[in-house]
Amino acid sequence: MRVLVIHGPNLNLLGERQPEIYGRQTLGEINDFITASAREMGVEVDCVQHNAEGPIIDAIHNARNVYDAIVINPGAYAHYSYAIADALASVPVPAIEVHLSNIAARETHRRTSVTAAACNGSISGFGPFSYVLAVRAALKTQGN
Ligand code: DQA
Repeated sequence: MRVLVIHGPNLNLLGERQPEIYGRQTLGEINDFITASAREMGVEVDCVQHNAEGPIIDAIHNARNVYDAIVINPGAYAHYSYAIADALASVPVPAIEVHLSNIAARETHRRTSVTAAACNGSISGFGPFSYVLAVRAALKTQGN
């Protein structure tokens, strides 16, 4: 099984960006953690990060016929990008939304995710482990 992990805007700065909220691990360290944890589940992952909406949409489109599932942390786009929500709804690839922080417990504008509605489900609040839970959920979408 192959899973595409998409990290959205500002997640390239993990480790130095608001560590009290997002932790001290860099994106590279988190990607290594996801990759190793996924391997234990027999899942191969590719991780990409984009700061802009267009490349995220392209990555979702290009996942067709290549990946069995998408794990996506849309960053702030989760709260207002109908274009990313439409992209997720436009491809027949199951998707799981991830957030490091518990968006339900944060500022009002973060409590809604328009992109999560276009996903099979979402996981929020477990730091980097959110991604590992999402990979496990991706397996579930394949009946495993
Ligand atoms: C985030 C939550 C978003 O509200 C925020 O804009 C991010 C990170 C998270 O992983 O907790 O960039 O998606």
